[in-house]
Amino acid sequence: MNRPYIICHMVTSLDGKVTGEFLSKPECADACEIYYDINRKLKSDGFICGRITMEGSFTEGYYPDLSEYEPVHHDLDLKMDFITDDLTGFYAVAFDPKGRLGWKSNKIIDPDGDPGYDGAQIIEVLTEQVDERYLGYLESMEIPYIFAGENEIDVDFALFKLKNIIGCETLLLEGGSIINGSFQRADVIDEISLVTAPIVADKNDKPLFTDSTVSNFELVKSEIINGNLVLNYSRKR
Ligand SMILES: NC(=O)c1ccc[n+]([C@@H]2O[C@H](COP(=O)([O-])OP(=O)(O)OC[C@H]3O[C@@H](n4cnc5c(N)ncnc54)[C@H](OP(=O)(O)O)[C@@H]3O)[C@@H](O)[C@H]2O)c1
Repeated sequence: MNRPYIICHMVTSLDGKVTGEFLSKPECADACEIYYDINRKLKSDGFICGRITMEGSFTEGYYPDLSEYEPVHHDLDLKMDFITDDLTGFYAVAFDPKGRLGWKSNKIIDPDGDPGYDGAQIIEVLTEQVDERYLGYLESMEIPYIFAGENEIDVDFALFKLKNIIGCETLLLEGGSIINGSFQRADVIDEISLVTAPIVADKNDKPLFTDSTVSNFELVKSEIINGNLVLNYSRKR
């Protein structure tokens, strides 16, 4: 396989939603703990999240003053990836097409020191829409970046590079709904790992996959833990 094996690991509501207020309700607390526990146990080279999830969970809206950074110019037809020589083997991969995420460190610093996240080396996946000064900022922070597309991130190309340049064999896809949908449409999800909490979400919350298409999965494992349904499916091809 010329891409990493992808496991989509998520907490869902009873009605299959993955975003919104329900996640912070006490009724969902056990599900979140089970989710983090499974996250620590799943063998992978790291996790992938969309820009909105990375902002909410890690960068919290910080953005650098780009006027302080030198632009890194690439010819239009030759966008060069930036790979540092200290790749650690454990990554936080950000799908950030326009370069909107402001990092204060080149590794995830988890406040609780959760080994499922703490110390993960950040990899930025960008498109050609990115401001060249943002590339200067990433290079000054020693944050590796790869290009994968002109306007939208080409999921297949990004995964090809994550395997062949970064060396990822297995990655967890950990939301949110928009990035999950783009992986589902590209048919690159090999496994789905769900913790379903006994709670219904709001009508405005988003589903597991935004803009999905039809595809079959096979139930491999089911378990009930503290009233939460823990499910594992593999793609039926
Ligand atoms: N239930 C769970 O287990 C779980 C896990 C993680 C997150 N979440 C929740 O999910 C919510 C965020 O989800 P979301 O669906 O709104 O956003 P998201 O998927 O986290 O991020 C979407 C953004 O990522 C970029 N992106 C992702 N895939 C792309 C692609 N293939 N091509 C180009 N750009 C791509 C785009 O950034 P630009 O907008 O910059 O173009 C896009 O708008 C958060 O509120 C969080 O709480 C839940």
